[in-house]
Amino acid sequence: MSGPSSPELQQLTQAMSEGVASIAAVASTDELRSVMSALTGKKGPIAAVKSSLGKVADVEARKELGAAVNDALTELQRVADTRLRELKTAEFAQQVAAERVDMTELAMSARASQRRGRLHLVTQATERLEDVFIGLGFQIAEGPEVETDFYNFEALNMPPSHPARSMWDTLFIESDVEGSVVLRTHTSPVQIRVMQEWPPPIYAVMPGRVFRKETPDATHMPVFHQIEGLVIDRGITFADLAGTIEAFTKAFFGEGFTSRLRPSYFPFTEPSAEFDIRRPDGSWIELGGCGMVHPRVLRAGGLDPAEWSGFAFGFGIDRMAKERHGVNDLRDMYSDDIRFTEQFS
Ligand code: FA5
Repeated sequence: MSGPSSPELQQLTQAMSEGVASIAAVASTDELRSVMSALTGKKGPIAAVKSSLGKVADVEARKELGAAVNDALTELQRVADTRLRELKTAEFAQQVAAERVDMTELAMSARASQRRGRLHLVTQATERLEDVFIGLGFQIAEGPEVETDFYNFEALNMPPSHPARSMWDTLFIESDVEGSVVLRTHTSPVQIRVMQEWPPPIYAVMPGRVFRKETPDATHMPVFHQIEGLVIDRGITFADLAGTIEAFTKAFFGEGFTSRLRPSYFPFTEPSAEFDIRRPDGSWIELGGCGMVHPRVLRAGGLDPAEWSGFAFGFGIDRMAKERHGVNDLRDMYSDDIRFTEQFS
C-alpha cells in the first residue's frame, strides 16, 4: 500500500519544491511562461507523478495521490500568479523609466540647437486664407461649433426630413428635444448668423472646425476645417462669384494654378457649383462648394431678396493645406509624427 511517504508523494514534494524555486528564480514574464509550461506540461515532473497513478493499486492511496497532484498544480499556479504580478509591476516600472521624457532637458537641447516650434499646417493655411480675403476686402466672423438644427439645416433651406440633409453624416448632441442640437457639419450656419447680425452689404469669411461621421482616409477626416465666404450686396451676380474665386486661387496657390466651377447642387444656393483647382501638372482637385445665396436663405437671415443678392462658398481648409504643401494624405497632418512635421519647419 502507498502511504503518505510513498515514493510518488516524495517525488511530488520534490517536484514542488524545485518548481517553486525555479518560479522564484525567473527574471521575466516570458521566462515564467516557459518555466510553467515545463513544470505543468505533459513531459513535466508533475505529469510524471500523475502517470504513475495507475500503478497505485490501493484505491484510497490512489485518491490521496490524485488529490495531492491537483493540489500541487493549484499551488504552483498560485505561486506563478504571484510572481507574474511582481514581474509585471517591475517591467512596467522599467518601461516607464525607459520612456520618461525630461521636458527641461528637451527644452534645453531645443534651445541649444535653435529648434523652434511652429503653427500647425492647417492653422497656417487658415491665417493665410484670412490674409488673402482681408486683402480682397472681406471681414472675419466666427460661429459656434455646437449648433442648433435650425442654423445647420433649417435656415439653410433644409426643413426637417429634407433629403439633402443626408448629404452630411451628422453627429448629434444629447438634448431635451431629440435631434435639435448637432456638431455643425459645415460652416454654412455662420452665413445665417452673420446676416442676422450685420447690416448689408456683407463681405465676410468665416473659418472654423466642422464635424462629420466619416472614416478617415487620404482626403477625409471626421473633424476638419472649412472657410465659409458670404457676399451680400446689391446687384451681385454669378460673374462676381467666379471672379472672386479665380482671384483667390491665384493669390493663395500662386500663378501656376487656375480654378473652374462645375454645376452642382446645394439646397442653400441656386445655382450651385463645385469649385476645383487645376494644379500646374494639369490635374484637378475639388476644394469646395459655392453658389448664389438662395432667396429662402436670405429671408431666414432677415434680408429681402428683392433688394439684396449674394454668393456664398465653403472651402475645405485641410485639403487646401494638403495641396499647398504637397502632402499625400490628410491623416499625416494629424499624426504628430516628428519626421513629418520636421519637413515643414
Ligand atoms: C459643404 O459643406 C457646403 N456647406 C459648401 C457650400 C458653402 C456650398 C456655401 C455652397 C455655398 P461639402 O460637403 O462639399 O459642402 O464640403 C465642402 C468642402 O469641404 C469639400 O469640397 C472638401 O474640400 C471639404 N471636405 C468635405 N468633407 C471633408 C472631410 N471629411 N475631410 C476633409 N475635407 C472635407
